[in-house]
Amino acid sequence: EQTLRDVADERGVSLGAAIDPDTLRRNPSYWKTASSEFNLLTPENALKMGPLRPSRHTYDFRDADAVVEFGENHDATIRGHTLVWHNQKPDWFQAWEYTPEQLRAFLRDHIHTVVGRYHGRIDAWDVVNEAVADDGSMRRTVWSDALGEEYLADAFRWAREIDPDVDLYYNDYGADEVNEKSDAIYDLLERLLARDVPIDGVGLQLHALGDWPDPDSIAENVRRFQDLGLEVEITEMDVAYHRGEAPSNPLEVQAEYYRDVVDACLEAGCETIVTWGVGDGNSWLRGFKDFGERYTGDPLLFDDRYEPKPAYHAVKDTLQDQ
Ligand code: G3I
Repeated sequence: EQTLRDVADERGVSLGAAIDPDTLRRNPSYWKTASSEFNLLTPENALKMGPLRPSRHTYDFRDADAVVEFGENHDATIRGHTLVWHNQKPDWFQAWEYTPEQLRAFLRDHIHTVVGRYHGRIDAWDVVNEAVADDGSMRRTVWSDALGEEYLADAFRWAREIDPDVDLYYNDYGADEVNEKSDAIYDLLERLLARDVPIDGVGLQLHALGDWPDPDSIAENVRRFQDLGLEVEITEMDVAYHRGEAPSNPLEVQAEYYRDVVDACLEAGCETIVTWGVGDGNSWLRGFKDFGERYTGDPLLFDDRYEPKPAYHAVKDTLQDQ
């Protein structure tokens, strides 16, 4: 029988999963599912600044390399996640009393070194992650506080400087459908593009937690970003219920939603869809107490034993039908 990956390959679609190198080393079922069912992989954490930077002047690429090499060995496309984010900074960062010039030099070196190392091996980078707050204002972070909003433009320019070929993305959550936040991101990217900042695409994370974005509105959103000249990818999809609010047939309803989203995205011309993990047992929702208390922890295409769920079959059928 064909795998999901076979079907995605035939249809020319990228179907991805976020990958954890430790689980890859320890768990043969995870390894097998990751390699045979997906044609795109992205390190869930290993390329973030915290894991990569044990100290201010050093890099530790072991985990990131493990995921990238695994992907290469299995002919998967690799998405890089992420260069500039307010979360998952190194622990030592807290105590660092930097000047704006020092911080700027640090960030430039980080982007040059990391993007440069994976030149020709990583196809797309989430250069900036989650820079817009939920109400559409610019999020205040260490980066914006010290460097002003210009850090955004600089980050994309530094990435482009070192790798003229890789696709450069702005990535965010809660901006999947047409709403206040995606309006703000649209305006931001339009302004940056007007200044020739090298941005190739926008990543819609699509963590559908409790309130599931309307597929038609996602399609409308995809189209307007494409009209700006941007590629659009679904970068971190998972689908969970508010605890206590799941229907009696949760997995079937979840499968319908996966089907509707994949359908709407393909229809709109968005042909990369990444799920945020491989099996439910690996979902970040299981590891985060506050999120775990709010949402059911079964958001992915495979269950805890890496058996395909109804959502898996729904996505596969949709790809075959199109
Ligand atoms: O591996 C370390 C271990 O060495 C350490 O001792 C231990 C103690 O904290 O933590 C382990 O690291 C954890 C890591 O996940 C790996 O499990 C971090 O604490 C934990 O914060 C980290 O969570 C990640 C989270 O981003 C950080 O905010 C999740 O795995 C990851 O799925 C999640 O992904 C984000 C995307 O990058 C951006 N969009 C939202 C998405 C979900 O929150």
